[in-house]
Formats: sequence, C-alpha cells, structure tokens
Amino acid sequence: MLSFLDSGTGVPILWIHGFPHSAALFEPQTAIARARHIRIDLPGFGATPPPVADPGMAGYSAAAIAVLDALGLPQVIVAGVSMGGYIIMQMLRDAPDRIRGLILIDTREQADSDAAREDRFKTIAEIERLGPQPVIDHMLPKMVADETRRDPFRRVMAAATAPGMIAAQRAMASRPDSTATLRGVRVPALILCGERDPITPPEDARRMASLMRSARVEILAGAAHASNFDRPEEFNRIVAEFLESLSSGA
Ligand code: MLT
Repeated sequence: MLSFLDSGTGVPILWIHGFPHSAALFEPQTAIARARHIRIDLPGFGATPPPVADPGMAGYSAAAIAVLDALGLPQVIVAGVSMGGYIIMQMLRDAPDRIRGLILIDTREQADSDAAREDRFKTIAEIERLGPQPVIDHMLPKMVADETRRDPFRRVMAAATAPGMIAAQRAMASRPDSTATLRGVRVPALILCGERDPITPPEDARRMASLMRSARVEILAGAAHASNFDRPEEFNRIVAEFLESLSSGA
C-alpha cells in the first residue's frame, strides 16, 4: 500500500505528484476549503518504499486505485502534476468510473519522442552512477521560478530514492500516447500550466484542452513546471472555482 496523507473534509481529491516529488508537493493545496486532500507517495518517493519490480504506469494506476479502495471512496476528483498526469491518463483507461473530475497540471498526453526516450536512458545511467542528487539539482530551477520557493521545494524532492526514480523514468519512457484517452473524457476537466514551464509548456495544455469535450485551461503567469507550488494562491483560487462549478452542476 502506498503511503498517503489525508486531511480536510469535503469533496475528495486524489493528488498525484510528479517526478521526482512526493506528497509534500501538495502541501499548499491543503488550504483549499471544503475538500478532502488525499496525497499519495508513489513507490520510492516520500514515505513509500521503493518498488521491488518496475510498476510501469499500470502499476502506479493500480496502486492509486488501491488507496481509493482502502478508503472506501467509489469516486474522486483526480489531480496530477506531470508524471501524475500520465498516471491519471492510465487511470482513465483502467478505472474511468472512479473519476468524477480531472485536474491536469503541467502535463501532456503525448508519448515520448525517440530523443526524449534517449534522454531518459541517460538520466537512468546518471542516477545509477551518481545517485539521485545531481538529477534533483538539475531539475530544481525548472520546477519553481520563484527563487524564494526553491529551498522549500528541495524538501518536496528530499526523499526520492534511486530505485524509485529509475522505475519512474522507465515507466514514463514506455507510456503510450493518450490522445484517444483524452478524446473519450466525459467528466469536467481543469487544465493548469505554468507560463514558464520548460518541460510541458502552455501549448501542451491548450492541445489537451482541444481534445476534450469540456475543459477549462488556465495559464499561471510567471510559474514554472510545479505551478501549484510556484503560484499557490492563484492556483488554489482556480481549483476552488472549479470545485464550486462541479457542486453547482455548472
Ligand atoms: C515530471 O515532472 O513528472 C517529469 O518532469 C515529467 C517528465 O519527465 O516527462
């Protein structure tokens, strides 16, 4: 079972972090009222031990659904940053009935290009040789543009393990294209992206929205890849409005 944090009362939101984060990524979102915030640690990140075998996207999806089962939650809003978004797209294929709304944050539906896949294998080799730290150091400025948030963001990545990071890179390298999956979405969706996201830029957010029947897109001025952490007040206001629109049926 994945380790997770669970706080607040109201509409349940399952928050899924990206690479190489942890449940701490969503600490700022616990300020969103009238919601229950379930924040998981994927295998080898935060407080969840590393996987014994590669989970792949299907394994991450199954582990997230097992948390919902354990909590007795038939349906939730799922919210994921980057790799967390890739996992949500797998959940949409595996268990669409468990999802009553989507919040996709700084992510994309496309599979890796050959060049991106090559880069992942180089990253894996670097982690095997030098451990997690150089990759974490390299990613930090891409995550948050606001320099005052960089030290706090280090804590989000502090517990990433080499086996967890390698398994995540392999899962991302082999993930399928999710264009058809998004075309089939029938629940309300909110897509957020940092204006200065160098990994999954705003054009990815707009393209995902164009695939879906009912998606609202919000670009967060000045924010980088972890836009929820970089511009938390603005991010939380937009999510609160989305939750309100769901409960009013708008
Ligand atoms: C993430 O933030 O989860 C990763 O940067 C996504 C990726 O490498 O594609």
